[in-house]
Amino acid sequence: MSFLGLVVWNLNTDGFLILVIRKLVCILLIVPTAELIKAIRHGYSLEWRGIHGVAHWARVLENGLRLASLTGARLQVVRLFAVFHDSRRLNEGHDPDHGRRGADFAAKLRGALFQLPDEEFELLRIACADHTGRGTVGDVTVQTCWDADRLDLGRVRIRPQPKYLCTNAARDPDILSWAYQRSIANVVPKNLINEWKA
Ligand SMILES: [Fe+2]
Ligand SMILES: [Fe+2]
Repeated sequence: MSFLGLVVWNLNTDGFLILVIRKLVCILLIVPTAELIKAIRHGYSLEWRGIHGVAHWARVLENGLRLASLTGARLQVVRLFAVFHDSRRLNEGHDPDHGRRGADFAAKLRGALFQLPDEEFELLRIACADHTGRGTVGDVTVQTCWDADRLDLGRVRIRPQPKYLCTNAARDPDILSWAYQRSIANVVPKNLINEWKA
């Protein structure tokens, strides 16, 4: 059977077709969508524009994408981490369990408001659940997520220290300085905020 014949034969198989469609949706859909942000906002306990709120998430996403272009991290995980990791905080201070709650919340919305293959969801779960610690070791996608968050510490007047960062990309002086200046100025990434209708 020719390659084309094989593809046509496979497309005639329902299970395979569904798999192909789901895969394409995963690849093509840019997350987070406005619909997903709306669901996350619903029930968000804290000030929407507060220190752990939507402007922080947008900067974490932009930090993450810049780092990912150097580390090769999985983009959908980086994007979803940005909006889930602090989404279930109960206060702006000591709340050591908020990462796990963010991961649980992501599990609840998965399938309905975003798609992610099992392997990538496991990376998202680890990145969210463990982002509150000082760990630096892990899969490069998890490390990229943690660094994207830590690079935004300037908003609470903490200058990120290279020894607490996980990747060489985040330790790059140009990137450190770029992210720090944005964080202390509390830059609001307008494009993302508009895209999210947030
Ligand atoms: Fe957090
Ligand atoms: Fe954060």
